[in-house]
Amino acid sequence: MLRGFHNIKSINPGDVVLEIGSGDGFFSKFFYSNTVKSIDCVDSSKHALSYYKTSKKIKFICDDFMLYDFKKKYDVIIADAVIQYFKKENMPSFLLKVTKSLKTSGSFTGMTVKRRKDNKKISHHKYEFESKEELTNFLKKYFQEVEIYEPKYLERSELYFRCSHFLNEELIK
Ligand SMILES: C[S@@+](CC[C@H](N)C(=O)[O-])C[C@H]1O[C@@H](n2cnc3c(N)ncnc32)[C@H](O)[C@@H]1O
Repeated sequence: MLRGFHNIKSINPGDVVLEIGSGDGFFSKFFYSNTVKSIDCVDSSKHALSYYKTSKKIKFICDDFMLYDFKKKYDVIIADAVIQYFKKENMPSFLLKVTKSLKTSGSFTGMTVKRRKDNKKISHHKYEFESKEELTNFLKKYFQEVEIYEPKYLERSELYFRCSHFLNEELIK
């Protein structure tokens, strides 16, 4: 639930939204679809279809985010529990694709799982950020404004981010 409450703070009425790795579409349906103009959900898994057909505002794109050619720009892009599926070396291209798909005034919001202190990674994750600082430094390469919040009461540590004012590609180091 926290994911939905975190992301909805970035969404304004009438926004055009993209959710990357939307799973079964639960958050798009129950948290975002009432407020937005439209929401595109992209997920590479065919098995995650449950809620998409229940709202006319939701369009499901069954594809790899990195391969799909988005024809529009979004006010808000959401990525919950998705970044950890990318290898560290592929994250720059992931972030560049996010910034290229955002409107100038757009926001990127979501969360990722933080690496455990004993370094045991969840087996299907490719990369887990080890600290709030590491994720902040990474996102700051792409956005001028980065806020990270780490709820202290979750058993499994998670990092919630909200980014805006992306940098143009030539300014990215
Ligand atoms: C852990 S689930 C998170 C689902 C949902 N966002 C949530 O928070 O409940 C990660 C989802 O990301 C999708 N995914 C991973 N890599 C992807 C990619 N490159 N393009 C699109 N979807 C991807 C997976 O298929 C999966 O449904």
